[in-house]
Amino acid sequence: MTRINPSILSADFVNMQRDLESIASADFVHVDVMDNHFVPNLTFGPQMVGRIQAVSPVPLDVHLMIDRVDDLGPGYAELGCASVTFHVEASDDPIALARALRARGARAGLAIKPGTPVEPYLGILAEFDQFLVMTVEPGFGGQTFIESVMPKLDLLRAEASRVGSDIWLQVDGGVTLDTIVIAAEHGADTFVAGSSVFNGGDPEMAIDGLRRAVQHLH
Ligand code: DX5
Ligand code: ZN
Repeated sequence: MTRINPSILSADFVNMQRDLESIASADFVHVDVMDNHFVPNLTFGPQMVGRIQAVSPVPLDVHLMIDRVDDLGPGYAELGCASVTFHVEASDDPIALARALRARGARAGLAIKPGTPVEPYLGILAEFDQFLVMTVEPGFGGQTFIESVMPKLDLLRAEASRVGSDIWLQVDGGVTLDTIVIAAEHGADTFVAGSSVFNGGDPEMAIDGLRRAVQHLH
């Protein structure tokens, strides 16, 4: 199944509710939490995420780009977010954090930056519901898709099928009508798209276009 998750990093922050309503045909809304420490950019924290959770027409896919995530991550699951993804580079104990997220009712996601290898984590896929392979350096929207990380998806897809895991494989960064096809061919099934959904003027049409671009592959 293909999932299209628009990133509200590219939405209008003072018209957030309007922009959330413009993506009602999406599967999830991708919510980028940045702390100006783990990444050189700042967005918002739990108060804003709680309000988005209250008004969003679709479930929340929260992407934490924050330090001290072992302490702060579970609070996002307590807000009722459907999925909470954290960076392995920011966690001292990814398995304990994943279990804390699941215990609070969220899907647990593990994210890796473009320079982080995937091999050390192939043995712990059962602890996660989603694996995010970053296709740009985290921090900003509108960057170019890094195709050289695609072998990580190949490894994840092969391992998931070897162990019979139904883990979702997500890509985030530079996803367009062209690059979504590349990622899908390497086994991704969950696609985050910020600028390509919000910058073209018609978010619903953009979501539909992305979905159609890969529907023949799934
Ligand atoms: C980047 C964020 C992405 C960002 C993607 O750190 O994690 O979710 O919004 O934006 P685009 O789709 O414009 O690359
Ligand atoms: Zn993101």
